[in-house]
Amino acid sequence: MGILRFLNAGESHGPALTAIIEGVPANLQISTDYINRELARRQQGYGRGGRMKIEKDRAEILSGVRFGRTLGSPITIMVRNRDWENWTDVMAVEGEPTEKREITNPRPGHADLSGGIKYGFTDLRNVLERASARETTTRVAVGAVCKKMLEDVGIKVGSYVVSIGELSVRELLEGMPLEERFERAERSVVRTPFPEEDEKFKKLIDLAREEGESLGGVFEVFATGVPVGLGSYVHWDRRLDGRISQAVMSIQAIKGVEIGEGFGLAKKFGSQAHDEIFWEEGKGFYRKTNRAGGIEGGMTNGEPIIVRAAMKPIPTLMKKKALHSVNIKTKQPFDAAKERSDVVAVPAAAVVGEAMVSFVLAQALLEKFGNDNWEEIKKRVEEYRRYTKSF
Ligand SMILES: Cc1cc2nc3c(=O)[nH]c(=O)nc-3n(C[C@H](O)[C@H](O)[C@H](O)COP(=O)(O)O)c2cc1C
Repeated sequence: MGILRFLNAGESHGPALTAIIEGVPANLQISTDYINRELARRQQGYGRGGRMKIEKDRAEILSGVRFGRTLGSPITIMVRNRDWENWTDVMAVEGEPTEKREITNPRPGHADLSGGIKYGFTDLRNVLERASARETTTRVAVGAVCKKMLEDVGIKVGSYVVSIGELSVRELLEGMPLEERFERAERSVVRTPFPEEDEKFKKLIDLAREEGESLGGVFEVFATGVPVGLGSYVHWDRRLDGRISQAVMSIQAIKGVEIGEGFGLAKKFGSQAHDEIFWEEGKGFYRKTNRAGGIEGGMTNGEPIIVRAAMKPIPTLMKKKALHSVNIKTKQPFDAAKERSDVVAVPAAAVVGEAMVSFVLAQALLEKFGNDNWEEIKKRVEEYRRYTKSF
């Protein structure tokens, strides 16, 4: 367990989502506006369902911050669910459920069936309310606090979408600096670094929607300005590549995570796979390539961190493309289909990916530099950066 940790709670249609972050140093400047900007980014992306039109996520800080600075005590962040007003009877804390509103039809690809069996629920709403990616709202709020820390010490975390379904911009990315990819992605409705390609993506997503289909895709998260030596080789659970992979893989619907060239490295000869080492006065050690994605031996090597994640298509499908399933009560077959869902959520998942990578990096940063007073820690990071350049 790291020095920095968080717990979150809340059901998709409950009154609110909450997170408690523990281990944030004192004296970090943070505002609800800063957190809200990140929350808004998660809500965007062409192809989202009706829910995101209802919600306008806003963070409320309930503890751990006073006059815009952290106190070093646990920070509680709450985001209210606007949609809750429509669900007060279904999601009531007291009283009895009405059988009419029970969900007994499990969707293939979702947590419904295994969750129902595991916890002994006959109303699958008890599963999907928490399995839902609505939960990632507070991950993004926590990630925003972490991002603020990283930003203060010159570490920038960003993301962009590489592909949705078969449509990819991978080939166009060659030679484009990471931060430019990010800035351009912020102007695209699908968060690829090529807003001029948006129409093609919109067409594909529209087609999927008309067909009752859903889509997945690939996104990349990067971090620049990361000092050498975050994470460690000394024990399996301190290796940063493992920790980042777990954090990103834990996002709903993520089924593959690569660091750097990842699976691509498996095809190469060693001489073409590794990043040669160079040294320059005043700059210290550096690489001209970054196939390792900034991590060697479970530690950052000073090059940008690059994480790639594959998201499967959204499990909830519309009527036309219903998949076969079986009712848990009657055992009768039925076509699993719903009316309201995202068609694609890769752009939003990329923002959640940024949050998870930010959390792991902030955790590793505090492990190395302490976690009491942010002003002290910032100085230590600066001093360490000077040391690494002169090593
Ligand atoms: C940002 C985001 C939004 C999502 N939106 C939906 C959705 O609207 N409908 C749906 O069925 N699944 C959605 N998912 C995916 C499911 O939550 C996920 O597939 C499900 O919980 C099962 O978990 P698993 O895919 O990791 O095995 C979304 C995932 C993310 C990251």
